[in-house]
Amino acid sequence: MKKILFIIGSLRKESFNRKLALMAEQQIAGRAIVEYLDYATVPLLNQDIEFPAPEAVTNVRNKVAEADGLWIFSPEYNYSYPGALKNLIDWLSRPLVAGDRQSPLAIHGKKTTLSGAGGAMATAKCREKLTELLTLPFIRADVMKEPQTGITLGAAAWTEGKMTLTAEQEEALSRQTEAFLAFLG
Ligand SMILES: Cc1cc2nc3c(=O)[nH]c(=O)nc-3n(C[C@H](O)[C@H](O)[C@H](O)COP(=O)(O)O)c2cc1C
Repeated sequence: MKKILFIIGSLRKESFNRKLALMAEQQIAGRAIVEYLDYATVPLLNQDIEFPAPEAVTNVRNKVAEADGLWIFSPEYNYSYPGALKNLIDWLSRPLVAGDRQSPLAIHGKKTTLSGAGGAMATAKCREKLTELLTLPFIRADVMKEPQTGITLGAAAWTEGKMTLTAEQEEALSRQTEAFLAFLG
């Protein structure tokens, strides 16, 4: 069975993007193994501590290597991706041995899909910039360009912390779930 690693771009416990991921997991309904990447302890990238890689970095690299696909659920921060997510991807873009630009990395060719819950633009800017980042020559993830799911959170999310999806939004998530399972083969 295929393994999908879920990466949540928000670190907060009550994250709407985490809730969206839980909904996607329900839609997958056991047709793939789903795991959530815990990257909260990955340090800020500092080239002074790159080699040997800190344990938390090795752990996330191994999780990415073991997965057949990545599904990123991310909020949009200031029309872009959150810094913690960028930091994670920066670590994934770096060689395991100093100066080694030839050896393949876990992220290379990794089938990846993107979703996000946020404000009026439904994280469109974040997903656009994430696509640009993930397809850079150093990273080369195999991003499924569409369908993606962008959720504009309803009023109850902002006032009461509750996220409910409209039937249309649920359908969009379901279309993405089916497309990604097919993309994974
Ligand atoms: C630093 C920061 C910048 C934000 N910028 C945007 C933005 O550009 N677009 C947007 O839709 N929401 C923006 N928001 C609001 C987030 O969409 C909202 O906080 C959302 O709940 C975060 O996702 P989460 O619930 O998964 O943590 C921003 C929030 C923060 C903390």
